[in-house]
Amino acid sequence: MYSIKDRKIQHLNIAKYQFENEIEYNSLDSVVLPYCALPEIDFDTIDLSVNFLNKRISFPVMISGMTGGTERSNNINKVLVELAEEHNIAMGIGSQRASLETKSSQKFLRKIAKNIPLIGNVGGVQLASPSGIDLIKRAINDIEADAIAVHLNPLQEIVQPEGDHDWRGVLNGISEAVKTLPCPIIVKEVGRGLSKEVIKSLFNVGVRIFDVAGMGGTNWTKIETSRRPSDEQSIYQPFHNIGIPLKKLIIDASSISKDNIIIGSGGIKNGLDVAKAIWLGSDLVSMAGVLLKSLEDKNHKINKKNLDNLLNNLKTQIKISLFITGSKSIYEFREKSIFGEN
Ligand SMILES: Cc1cc2nc3c(=O)[nH]c(=O)nc-3n(C[C@H](O)[C@H](O)[C@H](O)COP(=O)(O)O)c2cc1C
Repeated sequence: MYSIKDRKIQHLNIAKYQFENEIEYNSLDSVVLPYCALPEIDFDTIDLSVNFLNKRISFPVMISGMTGGTERSNNINKVLVELAEEHNIAMGIGSQRASLETKSSQKFLRKIAKNIPLIGNVGGVQLASPSGIDLIKRAINDIEADAIAVHLNPLQEIVQPEGDHDWRGVLNGISEAVKTLPCPIIVKEVGRGLSKEVIKSLFNVGVRIFDVAGMGGTNWTKIETSRRPSDEQSIYQPFHNIGIPLKKLIIDASSISKDNIIIGSGGIKNGLDVAKAIWLGSDLVSMAGVLLKSLEDKNHKINKKNLDNLLNNLKTQIKISLFITGSKSIYEFREKSIFGEN
């Protein structure tokens, strides 16, 4: 068994390279934006900005929660937040459990994130424990979070050697948190997806922001299997492709209520994918694995310029996607799309 800190470091290392040559099936590849040869707009004036958590972000992307709490994680988060602030996009941090348990504050991130939405992170299972509300309040206070993400990852936890097995009381914990907390809750998966039924249950207890995190990108079932002794791995291999593809998740999630904010995620690789996710019904997207791979090289050396370029390219690609569909802004693009008919 590994400590939380060691586990987080292993996660970073494996998520980056272990399955580099295994392409995950990505359901967005089958989505085709309708091409318009008569756009009648000026490419240079296309407006990608959207409102999120009472702030205006420059394009509809959030850096998804990945890490935090160790020296290397803090270095990664520092650069991610700097870039998020420079590009004026939303930023999530990874689970705060380890940092709260070891009393190592991540306050420094809020000092960098002066204008952008900064989103904290705790596990759903932690919320089910008697000290859950106290933990989530401390997580919010530590970084003065604009919202707190609660992750649901039952398959990952079962495959993880140190994972939590008792998932009773999670919905009730979330329900209590919605009533008590000073900021909105975002419920997210980590790559297997929030189904329509799960979103409806969460909607009924007052959650309004969902990060669907479907299949197509980072595969935690594979990552945790690889951390098991080799003689146990065959138990978990049949579950490697269990989950819900992103395309279905977005269509289902966006059909539940117009009041919900849907964050499309799970394998978003470029700006065209961002546009496709929005076309299907997302309000914005979040991205993790692709950003991490571009930020750190194989020797864990941080290359800020690389990720800066990736974010600039992302912006250009989203703009091209709007241009070729004849849309002046993200809001106009969303209006044009017929949710669920792709
Ligand atoms: C290295 C790494 C660590 C992660 N840690 C967390 C975490 O602590 N909490 C969480 O909610 N999600 C975590 N995630 C999941 C991401 O937030 C995201 O939901 C998931 O990776 C799907 O997006 P992707 O396909 O773009 O990677 C992590 C992802 C990566 C790559």
